[in-house]
Amino acid sequence: MDHNQSLTPTLEVSRRTVIETGTTALLLTALPRAALARDPSDAVGSLPSATVELSVNGRSHALTLDPRTTLLDALREHLALTGSKKGCDHGQCGACTVLIDGRRINACLTLAVMHDGQSITTIEGLANGETMHPLQAAFVAHDGFQCGYCTSGQICSAAGMLAEARNGMPSYVTDDLAHPATELTDAEIRERMSGNICRCAAYPNIVAAIKQASGTST
Ligand code: FES
Ligand code: FES
Repeated sequence: MDHNQSLTPTLEVSRRTVIETGTTALLLTALPRAALARDPSDAVGSLPSATVELSVNGRSHALTLDPRTTLLDALREHLALTGSKKGCDHGQCGACTVLIDGRRINACLTLAVMHDGQSITTIEGLANGETMHPLQAAFVAHDGFQCGYCTSGQICSAAGMLAEARNGMPSYVTDDLAHPATELTDAEIRERMSGNICRCAAYPNIVAAIKQASGTST
């Protein structure tokens, strides 16, 4: 008898059980406010759908989606807000950075249903009508991009970072933790923006743009 053949079904069932159990546990802890609903016509064992109210750039959107949907996919696939980019899809590049209640977050690493009712700002919501956000204007003025794929994440991240710095949050390179500098040096900007990768290596221009914008009311 083929030993592998006799073992395969048992291993498959076991692996699926582990995955389904883990997913269910994650959903139960991650859905404090989103409503779960199971369609009775669903096949036995299918996952429930979830409803969530996402407030994006000042507009409210009621969505019904697979509860495993990341915030990034909800923005891009459900709301057609494609300014937030998917670079790595696992938290390494920062191209997906958005602001939630003013704080930056990698949208690929968080589930949409975890942000019911919170205020989400994407790159599409930063400008004031036809007037660019100071960071957008500074990126243009300093050529802070080449291909542009990382740029929306860079700008959203910079907006959150400048707010952090203004609120006295120190970074890894801050000398005096008790009195973080209000003026951002190049080293401070580079460290605080280290979660945003630019494959075109436009870093000197990005730093210059952020430095200019840090002197404005962002
Ligand atoms: Fe989210 Fe890369 S796509 S960090
Ligand atoms: Fe191309 Fe940053 S401008 S990846």
